[in-house]
Amino acid sequence: MPSKAIIIGTGSHLPARIVTNQELEKIVETSDEWIKTRSGISERHIVSGDETNSFLAVNAAKKALEMAGVAPGELDLVIVATLTPDMPMPSTACLVQKELGALKAGAMDISVTCSGFIYGLSIADKFIRDNRKMKILVIGSEVLSKRVDWQDRTTCVLFGDGAGAAVLTGTMEDRGILSTHLHADGTLWELLSLQALGTALPLEPDIFAQGLQYIKMQGKEVFKHAVRALESSAWEAMKANSWQTDDIDMLFSHQANIRILEFLQERLRLPDDKVFINIHKYGNTSAASIPIALDEANRQGILHPGMKLLFVAFGGGFTWGSLAMRW
Ligand code: ACO
Repeated sequence: MPSKAIIIGTGSHLPARIVTNQELEKIVETSDEWIKTRSGISERHIVSGDETNSFLAVNAAKKALEMAGVAPGELDLVIVATLTPDMPMPSTACLVQKELGALKAGAMDISVTCSGFIYGLSIADKFIRDNRKMKILVIGSEVLSKRVDWQDRTTCVLFGDGAGAAVLTGTMEDRGILSTHLHADGTLWELLSLQALGTALPLEPDIFAQGLQYIKMQGKEVFKHAVRALESSAWEAMKANSWQTDDIDMLFSHQANIRILEFLQERLRLPDDKVFINIHKYGNTSAASIPIALDEANRQGILHPGMKLLFVAFGGGFTWGSLAMRW
C-alpha cells in the first residue's frame, strides 16, 4: 500500500480584538439583524496594534507543531495560503520560516483565496506520497480587515482575520488524504477582486480614490457560483471515493455565509452534527476558515481516527475544490 499524507497536529490563532455587529452599526448603515439573517455572522476577530499576517500564522503554527510533537527544525516545507500577505516580497512563508526557526524547510506562499488551504494540503499530499518521511506545515492566514473598505457595508460586515495551521507527514496506515480535486475559472475574476497593490495598476491617487485597494464583490453573483461549485465539489469527491452522503462523518466547508452552508447541508442531506459551523464567531476568514474550523473540531475532541472528513472550498479567482480524508 502506498504512503498517505496524514495530519498530525492542528493549531489556530485569532486576534484578541472582537468586533460585534452592534459596533458595525455605528460605522455603516447596517443592523445586527441584517448581518445575522443574510450571512449568519455575529462577530469577527480583527487585528490591532502590530499584529500582522505572519504573526497570526506563526502563532497558529506553533500550536500545530506542539500538538504534532514536531520541532521547527524538522520541517521540510512551509506553505502559507493567503491573499493578504505581509508584503509581496519576501513571502509570508519565508517570514514564518524565519520566526519559527524552520531553517531546513523550503517556504512558499500560494495565492488561491478561500480555497488556499485545500490547495496547500493538496501540494503537501503530493510531496508526502513521494517521501513519507517529509514533514510539511500548511497554514491559511489572513488579515482581511486591512483590505476591506470600512465604508462599504456590502463587504466590511462579512470578513474577519485569523490563521489556522496543520502539520502533515506520511503514514502506511489506512488513514490520511484520499483524494484532492482542484478547480479554477479565471474568466469570472471580476466578480470578486482586489485589484490595486499588484503591478497591473499604478500606485496612484486616482486608483486609491476608486477604492481598488479594497475587496470588491458582486455578492449575489458570487453566491450563485459558490453554491454550485461547492455542491459539485462535494459530489466529485464522494464519487472518487465511492462514498454515499451517509459515509461523511464531518463536512468542513469554507465559512462564507450560513445560507451557503445550509444549502450544502440540505443538498447532501446531512444532519446538523455532521456540518461544522463557526462562521457566527469569525466571519469569512478566507484561506484561514477551514484550518480554524478543523483545529476547533480537533481540540473539541469530536474527531476520531478513521472518521471520513470532506473539505470543500470556493473563493475569488474563481477557485474551488475538495479534499477527502480518513482522519
Ligand atoms: N446591511 C444592510 N443592508 C445591506 C448590507 C448590510 N451590511 N449589505 C447590503 N445590503 C443591502 C443591499 O444594498 C440591498 O439593498 P437593495 O435591495 O435596496 O439594493 C439588499 O441589502 C440586498 O443585498 P444583496 O447583495 O442582494 O444581499 P444578499 O442577500 O445577496 O447577501 C451577501 C449579500 C451576504 C454578500 C451574499 O450575497 C453572499 O454571501 N455572497 C457570497 C459570498 C462568498 O461566498 N464569497 C466567496 C468567498 S470570499 C473570498 O474569496 C475572499
